[in-house]
Parts: sequence; C-alpha cells; structure tokens
Amino acid sequence: MLIIRNIGQLVLPGAHESPTGADSAIETIENAFIAVDGETVAEVGSDRDCNPPPDAEIIDAAGKCVVPGLIDCHTHTVFAGSREDEFVKRIQGKSYVKISEEGGGIKTSVEAVRNASVDELVALAVPRLRRMFAGGVTTVEIKSGYGLTVADEIKMLTAVRDLCDHVPMDIVATFLGAHTVPSEYQYRRSAYVDLVISDEMLGQIVEQELAEFCDIFTERTAFSVEESRKILLAAKERGLTPKLHADQITQIGASRLAAEVGAVSADHLETINAGGVTAMKDAGVVAVLLPGCSWFLGVDQAPARKLIDAGLTVAIATDYNPGSSMVESLPLCMAIACTQMKMTPAEVLRAATVSAAAALNRADRLGRIAPGYQADLVILDVDNLNQWPYNAGRNCVSTVIKKGMVVSQRND
Ligand code: NIG
Ligand code: FE
Repeated sequence: MLIIRNIGQLVLPGAHESPTGADSAIETIENAFIAVDGETVAEVGSDRDCNPPPDAEIIDAAGKCVVPGLIDCHTHTVFAGSREDEFVKRIQGKSYVKISEEGGGIKTSVEAVRNASVDELVALAVPRLRRMFAGGVTTVEIKSGYGLTVADEIKMLTAVRDLCDHVPMDIVATFLGAHTVPSEYQYRRSAYVDLVISDEMLGQIVEQELAEFCDIFTERTAFSVEESRKILLAAKERGLTPKLHADQITQIGASRLAAEVGAVSADHLETINAGGVTAMKDAGVVAVLLPGCSWFLGVDQAPARKLIDAGLTVAIATDYNPGSSMVESLPLCMAIACTQMKMTPAEVLRAATVSAAAALNRADRLGRIAPGYQADLVILDVDNLNQWPYNAGRNCVSTVIKKGMVVSQRND
C-alpha cells in the first residue's frame, strides 16, 4: 500500500454528472491523505484519521497541493516537420485559412509524415510525451490525420500504439482520416470520402484495433456536414465512437451534427451558436475547448462561460499540433483558460481531469481521486490550486504518480 500524507490541499473534482460551474466544480480537503492499493485509490480523508499499515510506503507531500493526473483529451502529438514559417506569416497578417488555401497548413504536415517511418514518428513523439508527463499529464489522446492514405493513416496509428511501450501514460487513439481532402483527391472529393469509410481504410483500422474514436474536421475548407455525417455514421456502425472538430472557423452546423450522430465530444466551438449549445446539451455531448489554439492563432476564444452556464460538460485540451497549436503544455492552456476565457482555476482543473475523461468515455475510472479510480496523481510544489494557473508558464509539478507508481520526480 502507498500512502501520500501531509497533503496541504487535496483537490477533488466531483463526479462527471455533478454540476461543473464555479463553486461546485471541485471539493478540497485541507491536511489530507490518500491511500493507494495497487493501481487504484483505496481511500481519501483527513490526515488525522490516517492509520497506515506498518509495511506501507509513505510519501510526504510536505503540505503541498495534490490533484488528479491531467488528461489531454485532444492532441495531434504524432507529427513530423515544422511549420514556423506559417507562424511568422500569421504574425505578418496572413490567416490560418489563407495559408491552407495556398497549399500550406495541414498538407505541409501530411507531406512530412508520409516521408517518415513508424520508428521516426515514435522517436519524434517520445520526448514530447515525456515533457507532457513531467507537466502532470497522465493520459493523452492522439489523432492520426497527417497520413491521408491507407498506409500512412495505419502508419500513424501504429506509431500511436507503439508509443504505449515508451511512456508511462494511458494513450487513446483516434482515427482522423477525414482531416482534409488530400491534394491527389482535390477534384474527386467524394472518392476520398469513400476511401475513408472503405474496408481498406476504416475497415483495417477497426480490424487491427488501432483506434477507439473517429474524428473529422467539419469545416468549410475541410468536410461538409453531409460528408461528415456519412463518415461518422459509417465509423459508428463499425464500432468507433464519433468526435468532431466543430465550429472552429465558420458556422456550418457541426455542433448540431455532433448531437445528431451521438458524438462523445465536439471540439473547438469558437463559433458555436445558440442552436448548437442547446443540441449539445440535450444530447449530452462534451464540449472540448482548446484555449491554446486560439491563443496561438491570435483569434477569439470559444465562449466558455456561455457553455458552462448552459450546463454543458466543458473539457479543455491542448490541441497540440504543428500548425494551429504548437502548445504541448496543458497547464499553460489551463492558465490561458483562466485569463482569456474567464474560467476559474477550479473549473479548469475539472475541465482538464474528469470532464476530459468524459470526452474519452473514461469518467468512471479516470480524472478523479476517489475509491476505485486509477491512482494517477500529481503532487504540485504550490500550496493551493489557485496558485497553479497563477504561476502561468512555470512547471509547478514536483511528482507524478501513474497507476500507483512514482514515475517522475523533480527536485529544484
Ligand atoms: O485542431 N482544425 C483542424 N485540425 C487541427 C490543426 C491541424 C494543423 O493545422 O496541422 C486543429 O486545429
Ligand atoms: Fe485538433
């Protein structure tokens, strides 16, 4: 048994079903302990009531703050190449859409990924994931979507699978074959839609169990609502759970489609309208907001307060990718959500833990510190939760515990 004692402030997100707004987002216990049995949490309580068995391993949290391991529920962490030239072009006034219309954007990363091997993709992603882990992220979702051929999509998802052997994180794989229409299908887009849902692409991915979710970029410059519906329903029929990149740049009804097809989440939502909010609320679709992306692109943030006040489950994630969000730090995104979206530290902690778990269908076992939950725990070097996003841009994580094992420790 592992016991973490002398926790100055223990931060406990509530159950996924409980209200997510402001005061009810989390509970805290001052001077607390956590008992871990194997890979799961056995008990939490006040340190005065802690009676450790004689053979227990004890960790002294030194009066600091302890939170659940973070969950980054939307990333494109497997990629090759670098797009800093686009970063500079945007600074000089060219938009993300304009850059992609001129043949850059996602297509640039597609070329780089097509030229890389599985092993090269893994080697590039491992240090990224290790840094994310050291920043407190214990579960990460990773999408394909820079291959866009049968072989290259499978190559990306194979890299995602292989990464599980290199980092101590839970890694969740998402098939994003419908990220954009590749250049070779420019004038035959319906043939590309058919390829995505074919036995060769979707069928093989399902058969080899390479993905759990199917995502799509539903956007004027990517896939229409009709094309998205066709792909998501085909994926659902084969057992994958739908997700969408929805309402990012233009409003074409993507969040309503998310509700219609029973998606687990709709992500981005910078341009969501009232109809989308109501549809998502009624269908129980998790809203995944990506504050690092809007910050990196220098555009307006999604209306987080409106979504929280409407009663939606709101998660936040990095959207880590080489184009729109070269931001691998979820804690930095949490700080941006506080300052730019006016979410409270309690709301962002909730959004990056149990609500993010809900966006990955794992809220019954990840994202909380409660008996029966996986013991993914982070000891911070700050005294309370508010000090974490307040120390924006500094790594405040001192110890990361994954499945009951101390894996990462930092001593300044
Ligand atoms: O979530 N919006 C579409 N996909 C990614 C960006 C991918 C890229 O630019 O490489 C996103 O922002
Ligand atoms: Fe994305």
